[in-house]
Amino acid sequence: MGLRIVIALAVFMGVRGSPASTIRPETLTADMSAHPNRVPEIAGKAQQTIVKVEVVGAEEDVMATGELNPNHYPAQRAAKVVQHYLTTRYGSPYRLFGVQKVHSGNAEDVADTGRKYQLEISVHEIISNVTQTCSAEVFFPRGETQSSPHVQASCEELLKTDTKAQEEALYQQYKTNQGLLSSQRLPDSYGHIEPDMKPFWHLGILASSFIMLNESTENTLYNMAQVANITQLATENEQLKFDCHTLLHDMVSQEIIHWKMLFTWSPGEGVKVLQKEQLPHCHHCEKPPNTN
Ligand SMILES: *[C@@H]1O[C@H](CO)[C@@H](O)[C@H](O)[C@H]1NC(C)=O
Ligand SMILES: *[C@@H]1O[C@H](CO)[C@@H](O)[C@H](O)[C@H]1NC(C)=O
Ligand SMILES: *[C@@H]1O[C@H](CO)[C@@H](O)[C@H](O)[C@H]1NC(C)=O
Repeated sequence: MGLRIVIALAVFMGVRGSPASTIRPETLTADMSAHPNRVPEIAGKAQQTIVKVEVVGAEEDVMATGELNPNHYPAQRAAKVVQHYLTTRYGSPYRLFGVQKVHSGNAEDVADTGRKYQLEISVHEIISNVTQTCSAEVFFPRGETQSSPHVQASCEELLKTDTKAQEEALYQQYKTNQGLLSSQRLPDSYGHIEPDMKPFWHLGILASSFIMLNESTENTLYNMAQVANITQLATENEQLKFDCHTLLHDMVSQEIIHWKMLFTWSPGEGVKVLQKEQLPHCHHCEKPPNTN
């Protein structure tokens, strides 16, 4: 989006800049000191900016190898996979993780089997507001069929916050099956979530992280967008059970992807995804069947 804004600005400036936009950079510099407000100079500056942005964009099309720019997509995408992994392993309705910063990254091909990323990242535990540096390794297997990335991460400090009491209280509250929970649009279009629904938004993120981890490749960057709806089913085998429809956002393709899933949760067992199904894109599913 940043790139588009720069281009739009440059085109606009360029039009107003008229023939003078063909001016060479050295002339520009000289001109600038004399007449700092002349439009052609601004156009020239904006065009120089575009050249720089395009180079950055082009670099990102190839699979970067060696030391990575921590702010560019390849390192950011691998770091996001670590976030999903940490959430599936250690998340709870009261413990969720986010990548705060990528400090360094390195990528290499591993013979013909895939590609390995090594990362130093700051991970933020969102609810307790604790941040810690973690070392992680993400391996994307290469092959005929897409298989999920393998992750290793060490950041033990993040797990010290004790959320057991809150989890147990939530579990006891919803286990009795007296009035099963049902909610939709977490968060709503204003970004709002009722406080007593927050644990279910978190559970939706947690269950979705299993999907986001499994679906991630070097070319995706998944974020949770919304729990479209979540419905509690009767408790079986001491596990709370939920039917849930979530919206995931792939920042690379800019697609919103709908998944329907059935999952269970208890403080002891954590989240288990029993069934999951990707639904057709919404512009397909919402279109009445016989139009065009
Ligand atoms: C989280 O911690 C940081 C740094 O300790 C602090 O600046 C920030 O205000 C905290 N945020 C919340 C929501 O408590
Ligand atoms: C991951 O997704 C693939 C299909 O993309 C599926 O075959 C596989 O069972 C999934 N694995 C898990 C653990 O969900
Ligand atoms: C859940 O939300 C999706 C997407 O908005 C919608 O298509 C579906 O009908 C909803 N299901 C229920 C049970 O409300």
